[in-house]
Amino acid sequence: SKPKVVVTRQLIDEAQRILEDRKGELEIVQWNSEKPCERAWLLENAKGATGILVMLSDQVNDELLQAAGDQLKVIASFSVGTDHIERAALKKRNVRLGYTPTCLTDAVADLTVMLILMAQRRGGESMAKVIKGEWPQMPWHPLLMTGPQIRGCTVGFLGFGRIAQASLQRLLAFRIKRAIYLTSKPGQPVKEDHFNLVKTANIPIEPAQSADQIASESDVVIVGCALTPDTKHLVSTDFFKKMKKLAVIINIARGPVIDTDALVKALDQDQIFGAGLDVIENEPNIQADHPILKQPRCVLVPHIGSATIETREQMATESVENLLAGLTGKEMVNEVEL
Ligand code: GLV
Ligand code: GLV
Repeated sequence: SKPKVVVTRQLIDEAQRILEDRKGELEIVQWNSEKPCERAWLLENAKGATGILVMLSDQVNDELLQAAGDQLKVIASFSVGTDHIERAALKKRNVRLGYTPTCLTDAVADLTVMLILMAQRRGGESMAKVIKGEWPQMPWHPLLMTGPQIRGCTVGFLGFGRIAQASLQRLLAFRIKRAIYLTSKPGQPVKEDHFNLVKTANIPIEPAQSADQIASESDVVIVGCALTPDTKHLVSTDFFKKMKKLAVIINIARGPVIDTDALVKALDQDQIFGAGLDVIENEPNIQADHPILKQPRCVLVPHIGSATIETREQMATESVENLLAGLTGKEMVNEVEL
């Protein structure tokens, strides 16, 4: 019988075509709804699968691998993040893992810049007032809607991988003053300088010794690290207390790196100037009465970092290519070393 692959979404044009071109040799089972794939459907259909293509909203754990069975060879994730995947469970079963870490770098870095500017220049707050019809009550005034300027800022990165570095590359054009970064090896120079920035930029780019140093010295803090047990709530009350009053914090990584309750307090008590979030704990279950939405200086968008048409097409295509490569033991576009 033909090897079975399970795909938890309908894919976009070219990716869907590449997949359907294999109909002759593969049994293709695909979730067909705008809603995220239901767990029960996935567990049931995974049975006997050789490959599974998942979204970041699908949990890949022992339960799923067991439901699939011993013939499973590959998980291909339509994402750069892999915190929804239990790597140890894959390793134990010799299942390969594909992901899409490179094609979304520019899109997420662009969104990072958007969030910084919106947080500093009060983009969300300003537009909300205009939409509510409040402009007539707030005529032009020298201090109307003023916020801190990006030129001259020290930018601190929690995590300094591809996306963080691509964000810094853009920020150089805004004439920031200095960049500092914290990785899992505090104080050590970054191993991979993807854009040769450390050597070529005409500002200092230096490893930080601690999260405290990032908090106390940065005017802009960018959270760009993977979510792991070590980075969960890395940014919490202590961190916010050490931040500058005019600093903004940006999260384009995963929600749980920032303690939301602590962020709400920090904004409430004017310990920091603002926040720009693409992700938040417990997303997408953020109801209209969530306390973060009462914070005018918090810009929150619904996890759209990689959401350019071009990037999503590329992610879809690479995910399918990873899936197919995993079925036949070939080299993937990008594979996680387990
Ligand atoms: C987005 O958050 C991704 O992991 O691709
Ligand atoms: C602002 O619009 C200015 O004219 O300074």
